[in-house]
Amino acid sequence: MKKVGLTALVLSLSTAFMLSTFGSNQELASAKSTKTLRIVTDATYAPFEYMDKGKIVGFDVDIIKAIGKQAGYSVKVENIGWDPIFVELGNKRADAGISSITIDKDRQKTYDFTLPYFLSINEILVPKNSKIKSAKDLKGKVVAVQNATTGQAYAEKILGKKSKNIKKFESNALAIMELVNGGADAVVADNTVVEEYAKNNPTQKLKVISDKSNFQPEFYGVMLPKGSKLKPSLDKAIKAIMDNGTYRKIFKDRFGKEPDMKRLKD
Ligand code: ARG
Repeated sequence: MKKVGLTALVLSLSTAFMLSTFGSNQELASAKSTKTLRIVTDATYAPFEYMDKGKIVGFDVDIIKAIGKQAGYSVKVENIGWDPIFVELGNKRADAGISSITIDKDRQKTYDFTLPYFLSINEILVPKNSKIKSAKDLKGKVVAVQNATTGQAYAEKILGKKSKNIKKFESNALAIMELVNGGADAVVADNTVVEEYAKNNPTQKLKVISDKSNFQPEFYGVMLPKGSKLKPSLDKAIKAIMDNGTYRKIFKDRFGKEPDMKRLKD
């Protein structure tokens, strides 16, 4: 009797062991398919990425969540600031960066990008009473920009690379603050951002100058460490959300208009 009891115990123990092993394999499989990607951003760039009640929100956050979901990943977006994005992706400590990052030739030497997901162009933010009417008029003026952005590159092109009249800031919000406080005559930054800022802060009496002959269109992409294995699956997911209506819905909810899908896809 005692022996039978022992055998039964051994049997049930080994069954339990097998079940638990089987169970944990299942868990392993599903943990793999919902791997969490570490996504880095500079959340001072509304409406693309900004802080709202302690949360990182914005168009880019909606987009990266949709891309992740489509590709079978969950994403954790971390606000680390602009320059650190390039550092973290450079040494592969983050899986991807989404931060209104323009796909440009220089960056492509060091990083990979997904397919484009947004069309942008630089514009000039100035006080309402400013006489600046075009990019050329920035010559001889003090221009505030966010460090290491395409806005900075344009300011350097117009004012000269070493110009002391270019004031560089860690964030675009600080560059705008400099303008508002009278320390600069203009800010050069992405159109959607400066337009939204001028509209949302009417008491600051700002206006936006667009200059399509001096500023070229730019595309935002998700930036990846060079050689990232994620590129094929993220590209596929971007294509899918553009085809299945998810992209359009996110765009419409955020901007209240239709995206130009044709320009994004070609
Ligand atoms: N599109 C510009 C660039 O890539 C500016 C992006 C700035 N983004 C930000 N989150 N501060 O250079």
